[in-house]
Amino acid sequence: MKKIEINTSFTAFESMTELPQDVLHLMEKAIEVRKNAYAPYSKFRVGAALLLDNGEIVLGSNQENAAYPSGLCAERVAIFHSNAIYPNAKVIKMAISAASDVNETKSPTPPCGACRQSISEYEFKQDTPIEIFFMGESGEVYKSDSIRNLLPLSFDKNFL
Ligand code: THU
Repeated sequence: MKKIEINTSFTAFESMTELPQDVLHLMEKAIEVRKNAYAPYSKFRVGAALLLDNGEIVLGSNQENAAYPSGLCAERVAIFHSNAIYPNAKVIKMAISAASDVNETKSPTPPCGACRQSISEYEFKQDTPIEIFFMGESGEVYKSDSIRNLLPLSFDKNFL
């Protein structure tokens, strides 16, 4: 028997103002599109902005449904849309911002497990890491250099 350890790490920025200019711009887009979230049930709004290697920015916001599981997170709306319209472009960076209509979200809000799996699929497909920046409504921004840090020991097509 042996113990296996997998290390993961993140970079923490004190606030948006510490972000490099291109990421700041991307995060501003994520914040802007958050307003378009359709979140009448959770009142929790998420915006995602992707920067592609062709220079395009693709946006997404969470879309809920009265049949709850039929809704979709902002990250998957964005990455599915991106691959639907630019199937050969690589996603280089992703910015995520979350805010609740009922209380202030100050801590960095990471993508949920299902979104991590979806992001992982595309990172694997494009064979280039996706830098993921995530924050709440205000406060710290966390950066993950790759989805690998958020989803260690991931399942991919090699297991099929
Ligand atoms: N949500 C996202 O859009 N992204 C995440 O990674 C976490 C959760 C959405 C789904 C749902 O509409 C609301 O936030 C509350 O879970």
